[in-house]
Amino acid sequence: MKRIVAILSAVLFLAGIVVSAVAQAGSLPVGIVLPTKDEPRWLQDEARFKAALTAAGYDVEILFSQGDSAKEKANVESLITKGIKVLIICPQDGTAAAAAADAARRAGVKVISYDRLIRETASVDYYVTFDSVAVGAAWGDYLVKNASGKGNNLYLYAGAASDNNAFLFFEGAWSVLQPKIADGTFIVRNSAEAERLMGKAKLSREEMGRIIGQVTTDWNFAVAKNKAEADLTKNKRANKGTVYICAPNDGTARAIADAFAADRDVKKFFITGQDAEVASIQYIINGKQSMTVLKDVRVLVNDAIAAAVAYLKGGAPAKTTTYNNGKADIPAKPSAILTVTKENVKSAIVDSGYYPSSYFSGLQ
Ligand code: BGC
Repeated sequence: MKRIVAILSAVLFLAGIVVSAVAQAGSLPVGIVLPTKDEPRWLQDEARFKAALTAAGYDVEILFSQGDSAKEKANVESLITKGIKVLIICPQDGTAAAAAADAARRAGVKVISYDRLIRETASVDYYVTFDSVAVGAAWGDYLVKNASGKGNNLYLYAGAASDNNAFLFFEGAWSVLQPKIADGTFIVRNSAEAERLMGKAKLSREEMGRIIGQVTTDWNFAVAKNKAEADLTKNKRANKGTVYICAPNDGTARAIADAFAADRDVKKFFITGQDAEVASIQYIINGKQSMTVLKDVRVLVNDAIAAAVAYLKGGAPAKTTTYNNGKADIPAKPSAILTVTKENVKSAIVDSGYYPSSYFSGLQ
C-alpha cells in the first residue's frame, strides 16, 4: 500500500511538472487562419501577430489558405481537431468561408472574423476590423482635394468581389466621389455602369456589384496591370493628360501606376492605395504613388488577441457597432485609419515606429 502511495505521488509530482511546463509554454487554445502569403498585406499581419504573441508569451498556430477556400476549410478543421477554443480567421472568400465558420460553431469554437467579414452565416461571434468605409472615403477626399474645374479624368478600380471589404471601400469612395461625378468635376473613363449610376448617392449592394464587376482587380497585381493597360488603350488622348485614379490597395496601385506612367499621353496622375506596404511607402517618397492609407496592423492584431482572451475568460469583447453580413448583425469595434502622403510620410510611418527608416531611401 505504502509503495502504491509512493508511486502515485511520484506520478502526480511528475504530472505537475509536465502541466506547469505546458502552462509556461503559454500555448493558447486559439488558431489563426490568414488568406495568402502572396500579398505583402498578410505577411504584415503574420509578422505583427508573431511579435505580439511572443511578447505576451503565447504560442499560437498561424495557417495560410493560399487563396483556396477548400484549403481554408481544411485548415479550420485541423485547428478544431487540435482543440482550439477561438478561431481568428480572415476569409479568402467571404461567402465560401461560411461553411468553415459553421463547422467551428458546431464544435463550440468562438469565431472572430479578422479584417474581412465572413458573409451569409450567423456563426460569426465578432468582427475585428478597421473602418473600411473610411478607407474609401479617404481615397475620395484625396482625389477631390487635388482636382479643380470640370471634366477631370477619373479611373476607378476595385478589390475582389468575393471580399466584403471591396464593397465597403467602394461605398466610402462613392460617398465622396459621386456628387463630384454628378456635378461634372470628374468623368469616369473606364466604367459605363458608374457613369450610368452617377445620379444615385446611395447604391444597393447589387448596383455596387455591377460597377465593381467592371473595374475589379481581384486584388491581383497582374489583373490590375492588364486592366489599366486595356483602359489606356481604349481611351483617347483627350481622356488622359492629368488623371485621377482610385486604386484599391498598394499592390494594385503600384501595378496601375506603372501602367499609367508608361503611357505617353498621361502627363500627371494622382493615385490612391492602402496598407502602407514598404514598397508603396518608397513609391510615395519617390513621387510614384500619391497616397496610401495606413491601417496600423498592430492595432488590429492586439484587438484580435484581446477579443480571443475575453472569450477564453468567459466574457465578450467590446463593441461599438455592428456589421450586417447578409444573415446577422455582427458586433465590432472598427479602428481608425490614417491618410499618408509625401507630406506626412516620415511622421506617420517612421517617427511613429511603424517601420524603421532603414527600409527606405531618400526620406527627408
Ligand atoms: C484588406 C486590404 C488588402 C486586400 C487585399 C482587403 O480585405 O482589407 O488591406 O489590401 O484585402 O488582400
